[in-house]
Amino acid sequence: MSFDLVLFGGTGDLAWRKLMPALFQAFRQGKLPEGGRIIGIGRDNLGADKYRAMIKARFDQGDLAKRPFEDEFARFAALLDFVQMDLSKPDDYARLAQTLRARGADSVVMYVATAPTLFTTVCEQIAAVGLNTPHTRVVLEKPLGHDLASNRAINKAVCQIFTEKQVFRIDHYLGKPAVQNLFALRFGNALFEPLWRREHIANIQITIAEELGVEKRGGFYETTGALRDMVQNHALQLLCAIGMEPPINSHADAIRDEKLKVLRSLKPWTPVSLATDAIRGQYGAGNMGGTPVQAYRAEPGVNPRSNTETFVALRTEISNWRWAGVPFYIRTGKRLASRDARIVVNFRPTPHAIFNSNIGDANRLVINLQPKDGLELHLLAQGQDNQRNARTLAPVQLDLDFDTRFGSERVGAYERLLLDVIAGRLNLFVRSDEQEEAWRWVEPILDNWGNDSQGPRLYAPGTWGPSASSAMIARDGFCWAEES
Ligand code: BG6
Repeated sequence: MSFDLVLFGGTGDLAWRKLMPALFQAFRQGKLPEGGRIIGIGRDNLGADKYRAMIKARFDQGDLAKRPFEDEFARFAALLDFVQMDLSKPDDYARLAQTLRARGADSVVMYVATAPTLFTTVCEQIAAVGLNTPHTRVVLEKPLGHDLASNRAINKAVCQIFTEKQVFRIDHYLGKPAVQNLFALRFGNALFEPLWRREHIANIQITIAEELGVEKRGGFYETTGALRDMVQNHALQLLCAIGMEPPINSHADAIRDEKLKVLRSLKPWTPVSLATDAIRGQYGAGNMGGTPVQAYRAEPGVNPRSNTETFVALRTEISNWRWAGVPFYIRTGKRLASRDARIVVNFRPTPHAIFNSNIGDANRLVINLQPKDGLELHLLAQGQDNQRNARTLAPVQLDLDFDTRFGSERVGAYERLLLDVIAGRLNLFVRSDEQEEAWRWVEPILDNWGNDSQGPRLYAPGTWGPSASSAMIARDGFCWAEES
């Protein structure tokens, strides 16, 4: 089955950093199907050779282990082409159509990695030149809109041109191996299911922490902020994966139906919960590991009086029979203490303690997404203190490190998702109703912050965000995992 992959935004940040390296890795490992062509689209008059040279130069600056050998890159480069386009000009789409029709591949993937304001135009123009055939798939990068209304407008326009089965809304967190492993853990094993409910779980914590600041993306981030950039999509998708009911089978819609139910069951916001359970922060100046770093407000492209949040901590509940009353805490931010993405499931303690011992962090399951992916099961065990010749009860940790178990050459998130689009598998992509529901849920927070002149709380770089985040969780009698 031959395919053409058309990359709108082919000279953009995402293409350089994620998409091209992922396509190359898939190619190098023999996973990219035969008969492929990758067409980068950009404004500049580059030509295929210059485009290939630019990609090679980027690869050569990257991770040593992932740099291509000359002959390997030459074979990959043979798949690459470039078409210069101004995305607002209909004639340019006609030229693209000619290029695609000249080869007549079995399937065409249109990957729209542009600003969301262009999504509708690109899809309409694709249709205007007759490229919206049943063999076409369209991939839309996040953020899909800026709020519920703009998200709906994009989805409405796109769904007039393509059927839902042709639309691949990407959330790269769903492509992370640890997230797929979470599905395997929950729905491939009988062990946890009886415990996976309010009777046995005290609280669940979802953390996506980054050490980096906004880097060169200040302009983009100013109009986005952590809630739109990370919570509306990545964090809520993780919450769905952890909280959803077992789907009736592994088909895309069975999974997406269950995720949708979780989003619909999220506790609605009230003026009180908005004030107490939605914390926003912004990083100030300070240092990270001894290196001075500037405040968010001093980053290039950022308004010096900006109120954009670089940190969010939320408390919510899933109002259904399985989860009623169990707090779900979500936290994400830039310039935090470490690059760390994980889900912590804190089980309830034993109903009656017969050992006189500190149980520490026992009764905990940790699903690590980053920097390494794996599972940790924390238990209380009987150990031996040889020095005192005494037996002691102590918390111990059972580790399943996926790199050690399955090798570190596993398929990365973008690679997985790109291969799935090419194969037409929708399981790891987000349906329009899920996305709308997620926007509906975050919108009251956005509105509230928009009307609140207090602005975000400043936090020092290299910390876990403002202290209000710890205070929020302490009110329930709990603490963040790293504080226990
Ligand atoms: C992106 C956000 O979706 O995810 C970025 O736009 C963020 O701001 C990135 O840095 C984090 O992804 P990962 O895979 O590095 O955790």
